[in-house]
Amino acid sequence: MNRISSSGPSITQAEIDLVTEAIREGWQEKLSWHIDQFVKEFSEYVGISYCLPTAHCTDAIHLAMLALGIGPGDEVIVPDLTWVASVAPIIYVGAKPVFADVDPLSWCVNAESIKKCITKKTKAVVVVDLLGNMPEWNEIIDICKRHKIRIIEDAAEGLGATYKGTQAGNFGDISLFSFNATKLIMSGQGGAFCTNDEILYKKVKLLANHGIDKAMTGKYYWSNVLGYNYNWTNLQASLALAQLRRIEELIEYKRWLFHEYEKFLRDIEGIQLSAATQNVDPTYWISVAILDKKFGLNKEDVISYFANENIELRPLFYPISTMPPFQGYLPKAEMSKINPITYRLSKYGICLPNGNNLNAEDVKKVCNKFKELLVKGN
Ligand SMILES: Cc1ncc(COP(=O)(O)O)c(C=O)c1O
Repeated sequence: MNRISSSGPSITQAEIDLVTEAIREGWQEKLSWHIDQFVKEFSEYVGISYCLPTAHCTDAIHLAMLALGIGPGDEVIVPDLTWVASVAPIIYVGAKPVFADVDPLSWCVNAESIKKCITKKTKAVVVVDLLGNMPEWNEIIDICKRHKIRIIEDAAEGLGATYKGTQAGNFGDISLFSFNATKLIMSGQGGAFCTNDEILYKKVKLLANHGIDKAMTGKYYWSNVLGYNYNWTNLQASLALAQLRRIEELIEYKRWLFHEYEKFLRDIEGIQLSAATQNVDPTYWISVAILDKKFGLNKEDVISYFANENIELRPLFYPISTMPPFQGYLPKAEMSKINPITYRLSKYGICLPNGNNLNAEDVKKVCNKFKELLVKGN
C-alpha cells in the first residue's frame, strides 16, 4: 500500500539543472552568484528593498530582535498559535514573550487580541502569516502605530499570499521568510530577513557574518562587533532560486489541493477548513481541518487512526503557552481561558497531507477515511 506522506517538495529538472550549475561553477569569483541572483529575484517578487538571506528563518527572527534593540525589560507580543521559532528568539535576547489569542476566522492574531496584551513595556509584536493566510493587517498596523509598537512580520508560511493585493512581507518594519524543506519554496534549510529600512539592513548584515565587514575595514577575518554565523550557502540558494522561478505553479498546486479537500469534506458537518478572510488571497500552504468537539476526537486520536491506514497527518501546533520552555513567562491565570480560540483550534486541528506529489485519487482516499472515522466516531 502506497504511503501518503504529510509533506514533500516538487523537484523538477529546473532544480536539478541549477543545483548542478552551482556545484560545478559556484566557487571562486562565482561563490555567491546564486545567492545574489536569488536576492534580486526574491526582492522583486516580494516588492521589498533589502533582503538578507540567512541559514534559517529562526536566525532572521533573532536578527530582527537585535536590529530593533529588543532586550531585557521589553515585552514582545506573539501569537500563542504558531511555530516555536516565532517565539524562541524573543527569549534569546532576554525579552518576555506575551501570548496573544488568534482570530477565529483567519487563525492569525488580530488588533483586538494584540490590544489586550499591550503594556508600557511592549516594544514589538510578531505577527505571523499563519499557514499561508494573513490577518486583517490595516487594523493591526493602526493599533501598533498608535502605541508605537514595532511590527515583525513572520511571513515564513505566508510567501505568495496577498492582503488587498499586496504581497506578504510588506506589512512589518521587518519581515522574515523560511525556505526549510516543508515551505512553499524550499532549499532544505534557509531564511531571509527583509526590510525597506537601510539602517536595519546594514546592522543585521554585519551581525549575520560575525560582525565582519571587509568593504568597511579592508581586512579579512576582522570582527568589528560580536556577531553570528547565520550565512546561507550558494548551493542552497541555487535550489531556492529554481523553486522561486516556479512559484506561481507551486501556489497553484496548493490552491488546487485545498479546493480538492474542500470538495470532498464540505458535506461533513463539523469540519472547519482553513478560511480565506475578506481581504486576503491565501496560498493554502498547508490545508488544515478543525474537527468539532462533538466527534469526541482529539488530533492525536485522528493522527494514529490515519497512521494505521498508511496516511501521515500532522497536528496543528500546540499552544506555545503549554510547552515547558515558555511556562516561566505565563501569567498565573489559566492560559486556555485567556486564549480560548488557540486552545480549541489546537486541540482539534489537523494538518492534512500537503506534499507536492498528491493527486486527486490520494485526496479522495484521505477524505474517504475521514468520512469512515467520523461516522464511526459519532
Ligand atoms: C511561522 C514560522 N516561523 C518561523 C519558522 C522558522 O523557520 P526555519 O525553520 O527556517 O528556521 C517557521 C518554520 O517552520 C514557521 O513556520
